[in-house]
Amino acid sequence: MIKVLFVCLGNICRSPLAEGIFNAKIKSLGLDKKIKSDSAGTSDFHIGELPDERTIRCATKNKVPIQHRGRQVHRTDFREFNYIVAMDEQNLKNLNQLKEKTPYQNTNVHLMRNFAAGGTGLPVPDPYYGGEKEFEEVYQILDEALDGFLSHLKGEHSHLFEK
Ligand code: 4NP
Repeated sequence: MIKVLFVCLGNICRSPLAEGIFNAKIKSLGLDKKIKSDSAGTSDFHIGELPDERTIRCATKNKVPIQHRGRQVHRTDFREFNYIVAMDEQNLKNLNQLKEKTPYQNTNVHLMRNFAAGGTGLPVPDPYYGGEKEFEEVYQILDEALDGFLSHLKGEHSHLFEK
């Protein structure tokens, strides 16, 4: 079993959308028994909350189911997850600072868009102060980057992708 954690600031916009899109892709590949994902925020702003209604609207429009309650990333996540994927450099920095306080130094923290062609170093832009257009842009960015991430997983864990 491979476990993936997607992380943003609030865990109500970008990371629950990433989790939803990724889980839908995994399911359509028949890999939902072998790969699982969850999401979390670096902040405690929205613990226990449903995703932002604009996130839910964007997911619904793109036929992606989302089921999540906001939670904050925790030190034990570095033990529980094989991959932790940050949406931007600030998330990455905060995650690496938290990781320093754990014994789980081998868990790699990745930047989401580094998995997309031409996206190296770029953030998944925070849509919180935007509108429907910004959310749709985030959706398209995530959709592409998650395909790249799946190719990466296939390269590292080819046995899981065999029928
Ligand atoms: P997210 O977006 O990190 O993609 O979930 C945000 C959600 C909430 C806030 C900022 C960004 N906030 O400041 O409450």
